[in-house]
Amino acid sequence: MSITAVIRNHFTNNPIRAHWDYFIQDNRGYYQSEQFNKDNELNVRRFNWTDLEVCAELFKRVFSADPWYDNWISLDQVQYYLNELIQNPVFEGFVAFEGSDLVAVCLGHRRSFWMGKEFFIDEYFVENNKQGNGIGTRTLDIITENLNLLGYTRLTLLTNKGIPAESFYLKNGFYNNMKRTVMVREIQ
Ligand SMILES: CC(C)(COP(=O)(O)OP(=O)(O)OC[C@H]1O[C@@H](n2cnc3c(N)ncnc32)[C@H](O)[C@@H]1OP(=O)(O)O)[C@@H](O)C(=O)NCCC(=O)NCCS
Repeated sequence: MSITAVIRNHFTNNPIRAHWDYFIQDNRGYYQSEQFNKDNELNVRRFNWTDLEVCAELFKRVFSADPWYDNWISLDQVQYYLNELIQNPVFEGFVAFEGSDLVAVCLGHRRSFWMGKEFFIDEYFVENNKQGNGIGTRTLDIITENLNLLGYTRLTLLTNKGIPAESFYLKNGFYNNMKRTVMVREIQ
């Protein structure tokens, strides 16, 4: 019996069963836990390295467009940036597919803070032509539910004020932490 099979057997009769598919995915890598079945059209799974190229392409398309108009000059530059996020030892990422189409990406990292385990969202984006159709909300719900099962107690992120993304987060239970400010010092 393979090690994977032994571990699978162990978890089959264990209360942690519901979490099994979060840790060990099937060949397609999609979550198979019950909580993911509530949304049949959207397959959400953990990010893996084979997703990098398609995520970079989508990232460039999304953030080159309204309202960001970021000046990402090449796909290599985007891949370099995403690589930095992914190589973080506490990186955690999720991708959502409709059929074989990548429609949403969430890249972040863990922070084991004194208040509890926090998931910091570094990048969150939905396919340009699919925005405003609930995919961002549904994907976030699925991710949140599973982070919750894993003991995470809060989500944190930075975004610009007064843009649609801020409304999106406010509608999805985030609030502006008025005690905090973002400080930047240009050093060149
Ligand atoms: C922000 C984003 C992730 C939201 O996902 P989404 O699937 O478009 O959002 P949903 O359809 O679930 O929710 C819609 C709500 O989000 C807000 N929203 C944000 N961006 C929107 C967009 N481009 N189109 C429509 N609604 C948008 C609106 O308040 C909307 O509520 P409304 O329908 O009552 O007006 C997505 O629009 C996106 O990728 N935007 C560009 C990249 C970005 O800004 N990412 C966040 C950076 S921190």
